[in-house]
Amino acid sequence: MESPPMPLQAGAADVRSIKIVVVGAGSVGVTTAYALLLDGLAADIVLIDIDTNRAQGEVMDLSHAAHFAQARVRVGDYEDCANAAAVVITAGVNQKPGQTRLDLVKTNYALFEDVVPRIAHHAPDTILIVATNPVDVLTHAAHRLSGFPLERVIGSGTAMDTTRFRHELGKHYGVNPRNVHAVIVGEHGDSQLPVWSLATIAGMRLKDYCQAAGVEYDESKLEACAKRTKEAAYQIIQRKGKTNYGVASVLVSILQPIVTNSDAIVTVSRVGTYGGVEDVALSMPCKLNRRGAHQDVPLLLAQSEQEALRRSALSIKEVLSALEDSPHLVEDQRGNIRAEL
Ligand SMILES: NC(=O)c1ccc[n+]([C@@H]2O[C@H](COP(=O)([O-])OP(=O)(O)OC[C@H]3O[C@@H](n4cnc5c(N)ncnc54)[C@H](O)[C@@H]3O)[C@@H](O)[C@H]2O)c1
Repeated sequence: MESPPMPLQAGAADVRSIKIVVVGAGSVGVTTAYALLLDGLAADIVLIDIDTNRAQGEVMDLSHAAHFAQARVRVGDYEDCANAAAVVITAGVNQKPGQTRLDLVKTNYALFEDVVPRIAHHAPDTILIVATNPVDVLTHAAHRLSGFPLERVIGSGTAMDTTRFRHELGKHYGVNPRNVHAVIVGEHGDSQLPVWSLATIAGMRLKDYCQAAGVEYDESKLEACAKRTKEAAYQIIQRKGKTNYGVASVLVSILQPIVTNSDAIVTVSRVGTYGGVEDVALSMPCKLNRRGAHQDVPLLLAQSEQEALRRSALSIKEVLSALEDSPHLVEDQRGNIRAEL
């Protein structure tokens, strides 16, 4: 029996004509391709990787999963980005145990200098979605290297942290995370900030919810939720060496409103002015549709949160400035262009 067609919003593309390209067939890229297959969001999923043998193997395996979905998966090259609804960049070096995301910057920046212009050349109208870390710095780089308008360069940013935060708060209060409305904004990294002043459950601020539900409002326990959110990636990497399932689902949640033109609000990274700091990328809630992250949703932050957002913007800006001063590129034995650290 054929499955019923997916209900589409006005202006949504027909999923049967949707192509999504994933650059980087490593853990994040392949898990994203698999999540896309299960979600039925694209008819044509293309994987590009410098290691074509690895990409071939992954595609052979994924094709057998595609058997149960209405999509095909294939290995491609940059020409295959033409007419893609979105190109997701997951290529890059991974975070090592004990290493901060910012330590990764030079190597992955050099990779972007190679990859982004090639995507932009073949797919001048596509939407770029950046997952490679440090994601805010690389979203800024992808914007500059592609020449695309702001709304068409989106970093997965704190969409991941926001998901983890809602998970933590839901667990703490014994409420389904879908009923917790709370966001992490700023850097996808150490300077991120939880927006406590706007966090709600069932439409009530946390303090009011606690009073109404007769549960304890304990700020130290909430701070522990935020700490676990911030340290989740480190904790997972320490145990299994990488993170992949959460981020893949988050990437699909970013692609979904783009393909279905549904104006969902997602906390993603975009180039802009934040906390008075110009030309920096960090995450704030944005409306997403087929035009990309086309509208910021400004938050009425408390004074202390505004100051924390500014500090977050400044810490990302510092890395951007350091990068502009000193990229020293070298070629490694596999012919990859890398920056000397
Ligand atoms: N934003 C997030 O929330 C989030 C979460 C997890 C991981 N990440 C980041 O995603 C990136 C990938 O992580 P992973 O676990 O998939 O790593 P991985 O090592 O498993 O995969 C990386 C892939 O990139 C490929 N690659 C390297 N150079 C390339 C090039 N020039 N062109 C095309 N492909 C190239 C490699 O061959 C490899 O297959 C890392 O930067 C990691 O920190 C981000």
